[in-house]
Amino acid sequence: MLHTPWPQSFYSRILAPNRKELVSFIKDENAVLHPDQEFSWGNDCLMEKKQRLGDYNKILELLSPSLRLFWNEIKLGTGLDVTGKLDFQVNEAWRNYYTKGNFQEVHDHPGCQLVCVIFGNEWEEGFSRFFIMNRHGSEVDIFWKRIIPVDQIWMKPREGDVVFIPPWMLHGVSPHISDKTRITASVNLNFRFIS
Ligand SMILES: [Fe+2]
Repeated sequence: MLHTPWPQSFYSRILAPNRKELVSFIKDENAVLHPDQEFSWGNDCLMEKKQRLGDYNKILELLSPSLRLFWNEIKLGTGLDVTGKLDFQVNEAWRNYYTKGNFQEVHDHPGCQLVCVIFGNEWEEGFSRFFIMNRHGSEVDIFWKRIIPVDQIWMKPREGDVVFIPPWMLHGVSPHISDKTRITASVNLNFRFIS
């Protein structure tokens, strides 16, 4: 049997059970915004607009059905059942508006424990694409690259998809060449075991 003993890279793509409500929330022009709209990052990417969201309770409520599915996947994969054992909070949440020419450079999200990306559009031709990138891909010999995929995984998400990744996983967004605006939201979460 082949074992993969250190699976520190993972992603989970879940179509939110409450996808309509979740997408309406991230697209709501009247959404409560965070008072701090200064971003310390963004100099290496191009984005029409980004807005930090402010209603953390609502975000947690809307993400809860997808988070339940995510932790159930962890249980199936690891045997660890965290049901009722975790307290969690939003560290930061913001939405991204991609118009023609916009993209996001490869980056990670230090300082949190789980990253959620919420997709507000059905993917279509010309839309920018979210990808995850293996920082160790360049270490792998070309022979093994033909057997085990190690570089990037590109996604064509559905409207209402939520992708969960660990904060250390590199990811980015390719250039947007469509005339339609694409909207996503990112949520950084922190967890704590309830003692
Ligand atoms: Fe990101």
